[in-house]
Amino acid sequence: MKAIELKQLLKQMTISEKIGQLQQLTADFFTSGASEITGPVKEANLSPEMIYQAGSILGVSDKEKVRAIQAEYLAKNRLKIPLLFMADVIHGYKEIFPIPLAMAATWNPELVRQTAEFAAKESYVNGLHVTFSPMVDLVRDPRWGRVMEYNGEDPYLNSRMARAYVQGYQGDQNDLRQPNTIAATVKHFAAYGAVEAGREYNTVDLSRWQLFENYLTGYQAAIDAGAKLVMTSFNIFEGIPVTANEYVLRTVLRDKLGFKGTVISDWDAVEEIINHGTASTGSAAAEQALRAGVDIEMMSFNYNKFLEALVDKGILSVSLIDEAVLQILTLKNELGIFEDPFRGLDATLTEQDQVNGTKLALTAAKESLVLVENKQKALPLDERKSVIVLGSLANTGELLGGWSWHGQPQETESIIAALDHAKIKYRFVDDQNHTALNHLDEISGDSILLFLGEPASQTGEATSKTDLRLTSTQRRLLSLAASSGKKVISIIMSGRPLIDSEIYEKSNAVLLAWYGGSEVAQAICTTIFGKNNPSGKLPMSVPRNVGQIPIYYNHYSTGRPETSPDEKDKYVSKYLDSSNQPRYPFGFGLSYSNFEYGIPKLSSAVLTKTKSIELMVDVTNTSLQSGVETVQLYIHALVGETVRPVKQLINFKRIMLESHETRRVIFTISETDLRYVHSNLQSKSDLGDFEYFIGSDSNVNKKGNFELRDVE
Ligand code: BGC
Repeated sequence: MKAIELKQLLKQMTISEKIGQLQQLTADFFTSGASEITGPVKEANLSPEMIYQAGSILGVSDKEKVRAIQAEYLAKNRLKIPLLFMADVIHGYKEIFPIPLAMAATWNPELVRQTAEFAAKESYVNGLHVTFSPMVDLVRDPRWGRVMEYNGEDPYLNSRMARAYVQGYQGDQNDLRQPNTIAATVKHFAAYGAVEAGREYNTVDLSRWQLFENYLTGYQAAIDAGAKLVMTSFNIFEGIPVTANEYVLRTVLRDKLGFKGTVISDWDAVEEIINHGTASTGSAAAEQALRAGVDIEMMSFNYNKFLEALVDKGILSVSLIDEAVLQILTLKNELGIFEDPFRGLDATLTEQDQVNGTKLALTAAKESLVLVENKQKALPLDERKSVIVLGSLANTGELLGGWSWHGQPQETESIIAALDHAKIKYRFVDDQNHTALNHLDEISGDSILLFLGEPASQTGEATSKTDLRLTSTQRRLLSLAASSGKKVISIIMSGRPLIDSEIYEKSNAVLLAWYGGSEVAQAICTTIFGKNNPSGKLPMSVPRNVGQIPIYYNHYSTGRPETSPDEKDKYVSKYLDSSNQPRYPFGFGLSYSNFEYGIPKLSSAVLTKTKSIELMVDVTNTSLQSGVETVQLYIHALVGETVRPVKQLINFKRIMLESHETRRVIFTISETDLRYVHSNLQSKSDLGDFEYFIGSDSNVNKKGNFELRDVE
């Protein structure tokens, strides 16, 4: 349809048909439906007329159900405007990839793009039009369960991943009429990740400067990559619920970030404006949300109930409703569903597609593993020797992680099955087998594989915790393993960094395996026995204790920075009972290879607005094993109009090095890399001096200086 035809269609619509387009329902409202519920469901009392005018539904995507619902709907919808189908495809549809936090640990945006592309293909053939992904809320607090859904604590890494997800979902040409594409929704706008004390749905109090400086980067990257939808967040900003916040949704989102697509509320978020206490009635909530620019109300019903009366009374102008309806009609048109309401339903995945998906899930799982401890090269193990396996997580297919909707845990290979598959000799000791647990030293094998972590049900939405330690059963296993005299290899499955010094201190090696998806068991086994060399790097600092939270590498210096840990230096920014440093810093991850960095060289120590410079460093793999290193480039501006982070990632490169191979890595540094948000919220660079740091993780020391001048 042409834009003009959409406007003609809009003209034919009654006010109630228009308002219907703004309503999102679950499939349960349709005779042919039944869907996944991800939030509270309130009594709706919608008339059948309203149901068959609703613009979109969420949470259903089984081919046959989609077909039946669309057919049922079109038969009853006067203007035959097809329904949009949306759902949470977060890290795969049926083929499940590692959780987003684990994908971020790959530091491989191209791999992220490929997994999103595969998820789009599977979603497309099952009739989905829109996914509620990527989630790019910046988080510095692992108490918040939703850290499993995000891309880490760094704005630059976040933005690289955000772009990759959108490109993967929406395809190379960013044309949703192409097969195998779905529209991306960047969420949750904005600053949901800054909830106080890591408590789910809690208050956010963030300065505009901080919002622009760190939190908007991910959303901006997704919008620039063409994301078609934005979902509002549950939190407040500057005292006003985001879903009712004109500053956030119009000034920031539309004017500053240049978003032109559809804004959808989060589940029930329009209704929750009443709980927040800035509206006393559903009518006021509907008015505030529409004025703020929310086009679709997800799973509450205030637009439906109150907008018409608000227009009749002259409180709201119909043009505001038209604006929202036109957004939705445009999205439907971009997806081509006016011409083909059953888009994608006749397509299927080939056998080769399935094989490729499984391969991709294995690659992603392998690359997402982060080795944080490897004392005396405890890993890799010799596959000819027998091992002892402890921990119930070794004996389950529940390895997919939260938000893995169509994933099949019952078909997912467990660790035990993967060991069998690889013909490794092992003895699995059940958590309840106290006799064997008390005599581990008598069981043959000199290494123990200890599977620890948190259940997937304790990760994701509504899973905030204050205690990020192991359970008491797991601590007991760890303690028995450690006192057996055997090598303890701990493999941690979690949706966030666990904060328990015992894990890291009592184990000889620690592998962070997150929730790694359909193929994670094989990925873990091949890594432990040396057929895969770990290369993941932490996307998030691992704190020493909960008291250090929020903790992040790109903090500011303060007026009294702690320059060296000297006890006599009392009046500096530090703790009496803990180091300021995390246990493992952002960007950290070990390999079975050793990498050595040469002395970096700059093509010139001066760059200008028009002339960039190059930074070169030789990296050598000094070990016998080939491996992947992620070379990270950080900078620090010595002076800024606003304070500058002590270090800030501006680029990274993943390189594969054969044994004893040396590779020159070259980064270009240009003026745009030096821009930052000033007090007037504008992003620009300042002339002046910079330090740079290049190395294996964010803890790397300063390597040199350069200068930004107006002339050479
Ligand atoms: C979550 C969103 C999700 C939505 C729809 C909400 O509870 O916050 O992230 O997309 O439900 O399932």
